[in-house]
Amino acid sequence: MRTRRIGDVQVGAIGLGGMPMSIEGRPDEQRSIATIHAALDAGVTLIDTADAYHLHANEVGHNETLIAKALASYGGDTSEVLVATKGGHLRPGDGSWTQNGSPDYLKQACDASLKRLGVDAIGLYQFHRPDPRVPYEDSVGAIRDLLDAGKIRYAGISNADPDQIRQANDILGGRLVSVQNQFSPAFRSSEPELELCAELDIAFLPWSPFGGITKAGELGSRFAPFAEVARERNVSPHQVCLAWMLAKAPVVIPIPGSSRPETILDSVKAVDLELSSEELGRLDTAG
Ligand SMILES: NC(=O)c1ccc[n+]([C@@H]2O[C@H](COP(=O)([O-])OP(=O)(O)OC[C@H]3O[C@@H](n4cnc5c(N)ncnc54)[C@H](OP(=O)(O)O)[C@@H]3O)[C@@H](O)[C@H]2O)c1
Repeated sequence: MRTRRIGDVQVGAIGLGGMPMSIEGRPDEQRSIATIHAALDAGVTLIDTADAYHLHANEVGHNETLIAKALASYGGDTSEVLVATKGGHLRPGDGSWTQNGSPDYLKQACDASLKRLGVDAIGLYQFHRPDPRVPYEDSVGAIRDLLDAGKIRYAGISNADPDQIRQANDILGGRLVSVQNQFSPAFRSSEPELELCAELDIAFLPWSPFGGITKAGELGSRFAPFAEVARERNVSPHQVCLAWMLAKAPVVIPIPGSSRPETILDSVKAVDLELSSEELGRLDTAG
C-alpha cells in the first residue's frame, strides 16, 4: 500500500479504526481478529484504538486487548505496525462517555495501556479530548512527561482546535506528530485544523470518516455526488470518500472503522483511486 508519514514512521495511507469491534453492536472476537488480520494482509500498518473502546464498565481496554491478541496471532511481520491508542476518555458502562484529563490519571491510564498492549513503549499516544475541568497545558504536559520518560514513542492529540494544536506543539517542544479530529462529508468543520496540520507537517487523522458507525451505510444516499462518482468509477462511495480526503493534503491519513474483513478490504483500495480536480470539486460542494 502507498504510505504516509507519522513522525518518522511510514504507515499505510489508510489506517484501521478499532472502535466498531468493541462498543455497541460489536461482533464476536473471531470476526474482529479476522478483520484485523485482513487489514494487515492488505498492508494496513496504522491501527487506531483507545482505552475507552469498550462496552461494560469492567472491560476497560477491550479494544487494546483485542488488537494485541490479533497482532500476536498474526502469521506475518508486525514490526512495522504503529498502534495508536488514547487516554483521557472513559466509559462508565451506562453508554455515556466521560473525561479525565488530569495528569495523574493520564499517567496511570498510559501504564495500563502499556500492559494491555504488551509493549515497552506505546507507538502513538493521543490525548483523547480536552477536559474542561483541567487546564489544557496540564493534560498535554502529562503527555510530554510520558514522551520524555520513553513510555510513548510519539505524541498526538484529538478533538483539538487550531489554538490547542499550536499550544500542544509548543508544550511538546515541537514533537506533536498527529491530530485526530472528526471529518467526513457530513462534518467538515475540521478543515481549519486539517489545513493547519498541512502547514505544520503534522499528520491529520480524520475520525468517523463515513459519518460514524450508525450512519456509514447512508453515505451514498445522503451525499449524492459521492454516489455519482462511485457509480462512474465503479467503486464504493466509501472509497470515493477516502480518496477525496487523501487528496486534501499529504498529511491526511483516514482511519475508517471496520468490524468485517470486507469493509476494510474495500476501504484500502482508496489509496489507488486518483480523483480528478473536477470530481474533487463536485465532492467539495456536496452538502
Ligand atoms: N478521537 C475520537 O474522539 C474518535 C471518535 C470516534 C471515532 N474515532 C476513531 O475513528 C475510527 C473511525 O470512526 P467510526 O468507526 O466511528 O466511524 P466510520 O469510520 O465513519 O464508520 C465505521 C463503519 O463504516 C463501515 N465501513 C467501513 N468501511 C466501509 C466500506 N468500505 N464500505 C461500507 N461500509 C464501510 C463499517 O461497517 P462494518 O462494521 O460493517 O465493517 C463501520 O462500522 C474509529 O473506529 C475510532 O478508531 C475516534
